[in-house]
Amino acid sequence: MDFSIKAFDTKNTIASAKTGCVAVAVFENKKLSQAAKALDQGGEISAALKSGDISGKAGTTLLLRGVSGAGAARVLLVGMGGDEAVSEKSFSSAVGATLKAFASLGCADAIIALPLTDVKERDASWAIRTIVCAAHESVFRTDGQKSKKDPVPAGVKKITLAAAASADTRTALAQAIAIANGMDLTKELGNLSANVCTPSYLASTAKKLAKEFKFEVEVLERKQLEALRMHSFLSVTNGSDEPPKFIVLKHMGGKAKDAPVVLVGKGITFDSGGISIKAGPGMDEMKYDMCGAASVLGTFRAIGEMDLKLNVIGVIATCENMPSGRATKPGDIVTSMNGLTIEVLNTDAEGRLVLCDALTYCERFNPAAVIDIATLTGACIVALGNHNSGLFTRSDEAHEKLAAELLAAGKAASDTAWRLPVEEAYNEQLKSNFADLANIGTPGGASVTAACFLENFTRKYTWAHLDIAGTAWKSGGAKGATGRPVPLLSTFLINRV
Ligand code: BES
Ligand code: MN
Ligand code: ZN
Repeated sequence: MDFSIKAFDTKNTIASAKTGCVAVAVFENKKLSQAAKALDQGGEISAALKSGDISGKAGTTLLLRGVSGAGAARVLLVGMGGDEAVSEKSFSSAVGATLKAFASLGCADAIIALPLTDVKERDASWAIRTIVCAAHESVFRTDGQKSKKDPVPAGVKKITLAAAASADTRTALAQAIAIANGMDLTKELGNLSANVCTPSYLASTAKKLAKEFKFEVEVLERKQLEALRMHSFLSVTNGSDEPPKFIVLKHMGGKAKDAPVVLVGKGITFDSGGISIKAGPGMDEMKYDMCGAASVLGTFRAIGEMDLKLNVIGVIATCENMPSGRATKPGDIVTSMNGLTIEVLNTDAEGRLVLCDALTYCERFNPAAVIDIATLTGACIVALGNHNSGLFTRSDEAHEKLAAELLAAGKAASDTAWRLPVEEAYNEQLKSNFADLANIGTPGGASVTAACFLENFTRKYTWAHLDIAGTAWKSGGAKGATGRPVPLLSTFLINRV
């Protein structure tokens, strides 16, 4: 997909635009949008609306050919809902319907002249991001590992957005494209099968990104992880024949002395549960247990493309969680990098075991903030379903501020998170008779006890944890990675510049 912005005015009118198709909005109250009016010199559009050929309901479309007031061969009428005060939901569904119609047109280029500035409580930047991300989603392919590729639909490949050609809209478009490209990378990595997308594959992907966008990159191997005493992380890799990798990416776009934001991704390329093995049905979906790592790589792709003026470090701890004769057993006790000993009561609670050492490693960066992103607990899906990622932080002033920033970024990016508690009381649930900490809590609040486990390793800096178990991928017929929370993270970083 190729995007550009063009301002249409009285000299350079939408009516005279030469393109395959112009999409314009009509409403249920029979009103036409500005752009629709401009094309309605011959009355064809109001006639279509009056006759009931299109209701104006959000998500409906009607394709007209030979509209006398339009230079374009086709005019696509798009229902935008009740009235000219457009709801976010109506706009999104109208955009979806527009792209669906575009996919089966006999032309390659089109103009979207929808009311970008009339969405309630949203601005043109939001509307532009919504269109670009939806357009990427509409052409996203999942046939990378099929021997016979799915047919490539004809349809629109080049979209011009009718909008004021200001610095703001140009920046919004550039950011939207960068975020959409980042999401595409995150989705591709998530969907790849675990026998292909191994820890080594993630490491080589990070190196490729580093080359393309001039990041610094370092990949630590098992020997170096042993020297760092990351025995909690290493305990998860014991049952696997795939070598673990610890990836550090640096985008130093800010001033040299500015403290960096660090993003830490859980990168379990397959989570069988280990000796505490998972049930068979649906276990294939544990190839998605590296979506935290993939979202760090996707966000780096976005900030690299934007050349964001901020220091950002990405840290990815990646390995497989497998059973074998050498695998960690329930009851085994390991010593983490920061010296705390951990009783591994359940080898399926492995995410926190890899993350705790990654979080200790982050101390060396004197970070402005550390955010870890992890498909950490099934309980997070029970709590929040698939709509919100779980956000966890402590509650002092600095952390309230960080939480507010992340929640606001999620809202702005339509990639929302919902806050859950981190409190000392939950640490009681992690007591072990034999070690400093158990890796699972007593029953109840499993997402919270998981976050509280991590909290023990983050006392030296400002920290937030995002549990993306419910948001990183979809199950069922539409199984596939979503690219979340790349929009939230990218927007948070953009707002920090
Ligand atoms: N990767 C899983 C969490 C998960 C499960 C995410 C299902 C999305 C869907 C994690 O490693 C895990 O297995 N967590 C356990 C923790 C439990 C043993 C305390 C869980 O959620 O069951
Ligand atoms: Mn697990
Ligand atoms: Zn896991």
